[in-house]
Amino acid sequence: MIDQEFQKVAQAVELYLVEESSGHDFYHAERVYNNAMYLQQKEGGDRFVIGVAALVHDICRPWEKKTGKLHFGPEALEIIGEVLVKAEVDKQKIEEVLAIVEFHDVYDWSEKMANKSLELMIVQDADNLDATGALGVARTFAFGGANGLSLYNPGEKLAFDQDYVEKTTDRTSSVAHFYEKLLKLKENMNTATGKKLAEERHQFMVDFLDQFFKEWEGKF
Ligand SMILES: [Fe+2]
Repeated sequence: MIDQEFQKVAQAVELYLVEESSGHDFYHAERVYNNAMYLQQKEGGDRFVIGVAALVHDICRPWEKKTGKLHFGPEALEIIGEVLVKAEVDKQKIEEVLAIVEFHDVYDWSEKMANKSLELMIVQDADNLDATGALGVARTFAFGGANGLSLYNPGEKLAFDQDYVEKTTDRTSSVAHFYEKLLKLKENMNTATGKKLAEERHQFMVDFLDQFFKEWEGKF
């Protein structure tokens, strides 16, 4: 349930994501918003900025697919800024929201970021929680299917010690994505509440993969 003060932004986001179905659809925005609101209650921070950033953080994903440009690059931020102006968000708040969107996809294992704002930390945790657990499993295979990836390639490398770059061409299979990114998210959480929530979701993925390999290898 999205609070009244976020309704205009939520409607704009829904319009933008109407054709998106591979894991970054409106329901993802809504779940990240719900996670973010819970984290904000526990951790503090500017509730409005956090809620709006959670709703808009991925609206340029379909545009990224069409143009090949980054969904949090300068042009994307301009598009998101225009959406927020139309939704009558205050100019100062728009700046704060865009500063979160710009860095929400930077992971500690690829680039250490100093001085993150509490609002950025919460939106990152909220987004990463939706990439783990049962939803992480569902979204990974939906994304893999939409981008022509195999479920799993026997013999492929599953120990990813190098920096992960978020390009579908760098991926080999949906199962590999757990090792290159999703299983690392628990350690990458910013807030104490985020870390706590990530535990159960992380364990679910570990159990899922154990069962997956047991069935794949015909162990009875
Ligand atoms: Fe996201």
